[in-house]
Amino acid sequence: MPNHLHTEFHRMQDRSTKEILLQQRAHVFWFYGLSGSGKTTLATALEQRLTHQGFKTKILDGDNIRTGLNSDLGFSDEDRLENIRRIAQVARLFHEAGIVVICSFITPKRALRAMAREIVGPEHLTPIYTQASFETCAKRDVHGLYAKAEKGQIKQFTGHGSTFEPPDGSDPDWVISTDDLSEADALEQLHRRILPRIEFPSAIGL
Ligand code: ADX
Repeated sequence: MPNHLHTEFHRMQDRSTKEILLQQRAHVFWFYGLSGSGKTTLATALEQRLTHQGFKTKILDGDNIRTGLNSDLGFSDEDRLENIRRIAQVARLFHEAGIVVICSFITPKRALRAMAREIVGPEHLTPIYTQASFETCAKRDVHGLYAKAEKGQIKQFTGHGSTFEPPDGSDPDWVISTDDLSEADALEQLHRRILPRIEFPSAIGL
């Protein structure tokens, strides 16, 4: 630990106290995948559904965070690492407060995902790969970024000048293919798998 810092974590209310108050279990769901693969769409639809069910949630999203907390960062490997490091620390803070955190970042490298897991705690973070081929994302091109990258107007664009590493068989990550599934079906599948991680154990089961 750096010198002259005196942390006071032990005197603060801990996560389990917050979870009892909120009647939910905190967890971090980390969507990653190419730009245009459906991360933000799924994250916001999921948040809406969970909110209606009474869960307290917080979305952390790439484009939003990059206009505020991380507005000083670009898209070099070094900056992407710092981007994910800071976000994982923020996710950890929300998690400690008992919140269901939904992150949505390209997180293009396996090492970045491993770092996020390490910072939050592997048992508290579920990585979710929103799988869609480069061609599908380029065709969707929701914000016109693929066309700009093609013309050389955006440097270090993920999938075009900067690599994206999909999960390999050894990663425990969930995979949701937006190439094959409708938004409604993808949401349905996700919601079903997410609930057991965030529902507060009922008094009967204790
Ligand atoms: S990450 O690689 O560091 O995880 P992050 O998710 O925060 O990326 O930001 C990605 C968003 O930034 C994209 O949704 C896109 O709108 C925008 N963007 C701007 N320039 C780039 C670029 N060179 N590569 C990827 N995304 C970019």
